[in-house]
Amino acid sequence: MSAEHDESVSAVRDYWSVHTLGLQYVTDPRLEPGSAEFFAHIRPWMNPYKFPWIMARIEREAARLQGRHLLEVGCGMGFDSVEFLRRGVRVTATDLTEPAVRLARRHFELERLEPEAVRVENVLALSFPDQSFDAVWANGVLHATGDTRRAVAEVRRVLRPGGRAIISHFYRRPSWMYTLSRLGREPIEAHAEDPPVNEFYTDPEILEFFDGFTIEEAVREHHRALPIAKRGMKAALYRRGFQPLYNLLPERLALHFAYKFSVTAVKV
Ligand SMILES: C[S@@+](CC[C@H](N)C(=O)[O-])C[C@H]1O[C@@H](n2cnc3c(N)ncnc32)[C@H](O)[C@@H]1O
Repeated sequence: MSAEHDESVSAVRDYWSVHTLGLQYVTDPRLEPGSAEFFAHIRPWMNPYKFPWIMARIEREAARLQGRHLLEVGCGMGFDSVEFLRRGVRVTATDLTEPAVRLARRHFELERLEPEAVRVENVLALSFPDQSFDAVWANGVLHATGDTRRAVAEVRRVLRPGGRAIISHFYRRPSWMYTLSRLGREPIEAHAEDPPVNEFYTDPEILEFFDGFTIEEAVREHHRALPIAKRGMKAALYRRGFQPLYNLLPERLALHFAYKFSVTAVKV
């Protein structure tokens, strides 16, 4: 990879090493990260439990992938992998950062689940040989790497022909989140600073990344403004002003401003 690429990956790694997804939802500082109480405390805020469409996707895929091998990239604390493991899928869980991998490993131990492997991996340069996996799962990761096209190509490389890339989600535009993040110059979901990279794409731009795949499903998601854990003035304005007003939009109009776009694609 080029020096520019290395720099961007370092910035992404530095950010996520400190802001492992889930930490922003901790409201009781006495909780020990990695304890059973800690995972139970943040669980309701994590994707599969907060967004029913994510759990439905996990259930759908797990039913097809019984005994097969799924790679999760950017696993964070491993909540999604936990759900795949519980449903009989063999899982290798990976993330760019050590702290995420440590927490995910601890999470699996507490749940008495046995993944194939849990380790640090960069989705832009995976160490696995070609055609290693039956499926790759990424949740909120590829648009945050600094090189989405390359990330999708790496996902394709490690998939067997017929293997499934299940990517929940990319950030899309136009969308309510894109507008808010440009106007407010502040993230809506994170407490501290924004991640160094979070690309927003149009639907055709996203589909164009999937060269060498057949698209099985491409859906707009998160068209309603949902609850946020954040505190402060802007969060209050969001909760009391933007959220209730925006959510009055009729369904069909709101779908146009959905902020996530998820793709399930099969390697040809
Ligand atoms: C928004 S968080 C999502 C975490 C997890 N998927 C979840 O939903 O809880 C983004 C994750 O992507 C990881 N990540 C960012 N760039 C990556 C890369 N190049 N390779 C692997 N993981 C990466 C970060 O370390 C972080 O854990």
